Amino acid sequence: MSQSPDFDEIIDRVGHHSVKWDGMQGLYGVDPREGIAMWVADMDFRPPACVQKALEEMAAHGVYGYWGDDRAYLAAIGWWMANRHGWQIAPEWVFTTHGLVNGTALCVDAFTAPGDGVVLMTPVYHAFARVIKAAGRRVVECPLVLNDGRYEMDFDAWDAQMDGSAKMLILCSPHNPGGRVWTEAELRGVADFARRHGLVLVSDEIHHDLVMPGHKHHAFPTVCPEQPVVMMTATTKTFNIAGTHSGNVIIADPDLRARFAGRMAARGVSPNSFGLALATAAYSPEGAAWLDALIAYLDENRRIFDAGVNAIPGLHSMPLEATYLAWVDFAGTGMTREEFTARVEQGAKIAANHGPTFGLGGESFLRFNLATPRARVIEAVARLQAAFGDLQ
Ligand SMILES: Cc1ncc(COP(=O)(O)O)c(C=O)c1O
Repeated sequence: MSQSPDFDEIIDRVGHHSVKWDGMQGLYGVDPREGIAMWVADMDFRPPACVQKALEEMAAHGVYGYWGDDRAYLAAIGWWMANRHGWQIAPEWVFTTHGLVNGTALCVDAFTAPGDGVVLMTPVYHAFARVIKAAGRRVVECPLVLNDGRYEMDFDAWDAQMDGSAKMLILCSPHNPGGRVWTEAELRGVADFARRHGLVLVSDEIHHDLVMPGHKHHAFPTVCPEQPVVMMTATTKTFNIAGTHSGNVIIADPDLRARFAGRMAARGVSPNSFGLALATAAYSPEGAAWLDALIAYLDENRRIFDAGVNAIPGLHSMPLEATYLAWVDFAGTGMTREEFTARVEQGAKIAANHGPTFGLGGESFLRFNLATPRARVIEAVARLQAAFGDLQ
C-alpha cells in the first residue's frame, strides 16, 4: 500500500519553471515570495506515487529514445474511461496530441476553413478563442445565462444568432470557469443544437475527473450515442502532470476520425514518451484512489473558500460542481473592474485570472485556483476579507 497523499505539504515552486508562480511578478506585479498564485490551472500538489515511480524508472533506465508499443497506454485509457466514466472506447479511436490546446488547434484545422465561425458558450476557457483567432477563424460567442447564480444554456437565443457561417462548436464539459456539470438534458440540447446548425461537435472534457461529491459528470457519448463527437480528455489536469503536454482526442465516428488523422499527419504530431509513461501509470487503481482523496481535499478547500468569500458583502463565488476553479463575481460591490482587481492584486497580493479573458459575461469576475494546500486557501480568504474590509 502506498502512503496516503499529503496535500497539506507546502512545496516551494518558485524558481522551478512554474508559470503560475514564476510568471506572476511579470504579469500581475505580485512578488511570489509574499503573494499567492491562484491563476493558471495546475495544482501545487505532487502527483500520485505511481506516477512518480514511473518517472523514476525511466530516469533509472536512462535512455530516452523514441516511444514504441502503446498497448499498455491504450489499455489504461480504455480501463479508465470504462471504470470512471462508463464509456467503452476502442483503441483505434485514440489520438495523442501535445495537450488539448494543441488538440483544439488540430480540430480547428481539421473541421473548419479560414473565415468560418466556431461557436463558444461564453464565458469559457480563454485558450479556445486564442487558438480560433490565431488560425484565422471567427469566434461566435453564445452567452451562457446566469440564473440564480449559476450558468444555463439558452438555445432559443443561440438559434437566433446562427447564420450558417459557423462550422464547429466547442463544448467545455464540465464547464471552466463556471464549474457546472452539465445535465443529461443540457447535453441532449447541445447535440440537437449542433445538428440543427450543421456544427461539428467537440467536447473538451479535460476536467471530467474533478467532480465534486454529489455531482455526476456524463461523458458526452454516454448520453448522446448517436451524435458524432470529438472527445478531448487527458490525465494532465486530474493528476497534475500538465507539463507533460499530453492529451487524448478520442473519435468514434470514422469520417471525423479520418479528417483528424489527416491533420495530425500534416502537422507531424507524435507523442512524447514521458507523457505516455506517466499517463499509463496514472490510469490505474492506485491513481484512482489518489484521485478520490484529492476530490475530498478540494471539496473542503471549496467549502472554506466559498464560506469566507460569500461572507464579504458584494462578492459571490459560484457553486462549484466540478473543477478546482472558483469563479467569483464582484458585481455586487459596485466597484469598477480596475478597483476590485487592484484590491485583489495589490491589496491581497493574490494573482487570479481576469474574467474578460473568458469572453462575454466575464467582465465582473475573477477566477481563483483552489488546488493548493489548505493553509494557503485560508490565508487567501483572510486577505480578501481584509482587502474588502470596508464593505463588512
Ligand atoms: C477546458 C480546458 N481545456 C484545455 C486546457 C489545457 O489543456 P492542455 O494543458 O492539455 O493544453 C485547460 C487548462 O486549463 C482547460 O481548462
